Amino acid sequence: MGAAPRRLAAIVLLGALCCCCYYTQVSRAESVGYGELEEEWRGEVVQLSWKPRAFHIKGFLSEEECDHIINTSKPQLEESLVVNSDTGKFMKSTVRTSLGAQFGRGFDAVFRRIEKRIASVTMIPVEHQEGTQVLHYVNGQKYDVHYDTFHDTVNSRKENGGQRIVTFLMYLSTPEEGGETVFPFADLKVSGPGWSECALQGFAHKPKRGDAMMFYSLTPDGKVDPASQHGSCPTLKGTKWSATKWIHIYPFGMAPPTPDPNGCEDTNESCAEWAFFDECTKNPGYMLTGCKKSCKTCGPAAAGAQAEHSAGAKEALKTA
Ligand SMILES: *[C@@H]1O[C@H](CO)[C@@H](O)[C@H](O)[C@H]1NC(C)=O
Ligand SMILES: *[C@@H]1O[C@H](CO)[C@@H](O)[C@H](O)[C@H]1NC(C)=O
Repeated sequence: MGAAPRRLAAIVLLGALCCCCYYTQVSRAESVGYGELEEEWRGEVVQLSWKPRAFHIKGFLSEEECDHIINTSKPQLEESLVVNSDTGKFMKSTVRTSLGAQFGRGFDAVFRRIEKRIASVTMIPVEHQEGTQVLHYVNGQKYDVHYDTFHDTVNSRKENGGQRIVTFLMYLSTPEEGGETVFPFADLKVSGPGWSECALQGFAHKPKRGDAMMFYSLTPDGKVDPASQHGSCPTLKGTKWSATKWIHIYPFGMAPPTPDPNGCEDTNESCAEWAFFDECTKNPGYMLTGCKKSCKTCGPAAAGAQAEHSAGAKEALKTA
């Protein structure tokens, strides 16, 4: 419990004092963030490393928020999930085989509140965030070293949100041994007791329930940072639960509809996100009529472009 109730009290007070000025500004910014979920967060951000640019965010989630994410994920674990284009919900598929659970952005009120808080801390609007990926590691399970950035030209296109700039990793449990997030190409190394052998190969951060760690995949000049390659060390004792949020340089999955004289339009604001998850191929019945623009089914180069897009989306799933 701890800090959460006090924090909420502060928010309510702030809301009551500021409601007039707040509401007059809403219309200007109504497409940015979740306006109804204003809150203040007064946690601590500690700089960890410059190569990569990594920061420790202490006390980011309350106990209840950690439990809520874990509870919501449990029934979906060990199933491969993709977006269903009729409901916008994630559902089983054979395409994705990673363990864990995926939640679309704005999944429920708790996720929305957390997404808004992530937006404040990262200083990047909610629209730039992907959904949330929850992972569960036990018995030596790990995530090998990888980049979070895309290395194909399709997924880093502006209409797909562009490149991923920041990864925001939330820790929902404290593993007893191992499970560190490790950066083998960082310019620092951890040492001393308490680290697993895997963590000692580079710079590492220990998961602690309720804390978060964010790191930039891009350097300030916009280039992919080789030091941002990272992995999850084997969880040797206890359980590791993490929730990951990838944040893009442009809004993700919300390309505004551009009226087209040839009727080449998306009829739903989620079309781009669904197309990103390859729904144009998997669910053509709805997608090829309702999401023509995102599925690129109009215009002379449509067929080729669509094939290219699907390949890119699959690559993105592997990267993710
Ligand atoms: C999570 O699930 C546990 C066990 O069923 C329950 O006791 C707890 O109240 C739940 N917490 C939240 C925040 O959903
Ligand atoms: C878009 O699709 C979602 C999920 O199916 C639905 O809830 C929403 O109302 C749709 N929006 C529009 C404008 O049709």
